[in-house]
Amino acid sequence: MSKLTRSVWAEVSLDNIAFNVRQFNEFIGPDCELMAVVKANGYGHGALETAYTMIANGTNWLAVALPEEGVRLRRGGITAPILVLGAVGADELDVCVAADLAVTVFEPHIARLLSQAAAAQQKSAKVHIKVDTGMGRLGLLPKDFGDLVELVRSLPGLEIQGVFTHFAQAEQEDLEYTRRQWERFQKVREDLRARGISIPYTHAANTAAALFFPESHLDLVRVGLGIYGMYPDARRPLELKPALSLKTRVAFVKRVPAGSAVSYNSTYVTERETSIAVLPIGYADGLARGLSNKGKVLIAGTLCPIVGMVTMDHTLVDVGDLPVSIGDEVILLGSDGTNCIHAHDWADLLGTINYEITSRLSSRVERVYK
Ligand SMILES: Cc1ncc(COP(=O)(O)O)c(C=O)c1O
Repeated sequence: MSKLTRSVWAEVSLDNIAFNVRQFNEFIGPDCELMAVVKANGYGHGALETAYTMIANGTNWLAVALPEEGVRLRRGGITAPILVLGAVGADELDVCVAADLAVTVFEPHIARLLSQAAAAQQKSAKVHIKVDTGMGRLGLLPKDFGDLVELVRSLPGLEIQGVFTHFAQAEQEDLEYTRRQWERFQKVREDLRARGISIPYTHAANTAAALFFPESHLDLVRVGLGIYGMYPDARRPLELKPALSLKTRVAFVKRVPAGSAVSYNSTYVTERETSIAVLPIGYADGLARGLSNKGKVLIAGTLCPIVGMVTMDHTLVDVGDLPVSIGDEVILLGSDGTNCIHAHDWADLLGTINYEITSRLSSRVERVYK
């Protein structure tokens, strides 16, 4: 059977990913390493394909959220060190040891179980111990951290590769909260030094901290958003190139008279005779329903409004008097050389963040690598 191709696809520019990796490496300098965060299918860009490009261009580490994401990378042939950032369940530890995935540890019970899993496989398990300095999510509070590190050091089969924390608001122009987190992290590091403990990698920075709070670079930075060419806010201290474009083709176009209602609930009624283009993409693909009567797409060099409700599989666009035909290419995210629609444009309309836009592009959208 010939390959089925649907006319909805995400073009991922591996050149732009390579460019972004090189930009970050230059920015952080030779004493700091780059950990590329490829969780959630590489923020929607495709974890395995982008990981190969990242590694070929100077990324030393990868990070995922789930063990199964790490296993998929291993099965795809990735041999670089991989850190699982999320909470690993007791029944996932064996897999982490077998696939040589470093585990984030923040409490004693899972550390003991990981030590047992390592012993059972006669391997050593890599560990990064996480301290919560103010994110309020995973991580042990600073006052208990030194004791946990001592415990993990005493358990057989565990190799502590790193200690780390995560910033809650490094994208804010006011860095007061971030500095407070940073000071708490410094105290943790001093406590470890006072105990005579030295750990190979200390890390804290995500994209925002890497860009806006360079003193937090330490031994490595964990960069997700920026590697894909997106920014945490409007500031641009480093040139990055967006890697993903979302495209489709016009499935149908129809000339309609004034007063024609469009899509569910008839929320849009044409004011004059116009052409409505039907796009074969909807919210099941990740084109958020919240863009109904708000978003725009690029057709034939023109920004045209999405009209009526976005439906599960179809979206309607008022193309006015533009000469649009079935099969014409439509850009939903990306550039036509003149205009550009960014993930953050959607995010602004939707009251969310650019992370959510690309990571929610569904598996129905074919990824095409250029
Ligand atoms: C612990 C941790 N580190 C780093 C990152 C990467 O963040 P960013 O995409 O902002 O660079 C994330 C992403 O959520 C994370 O959870």
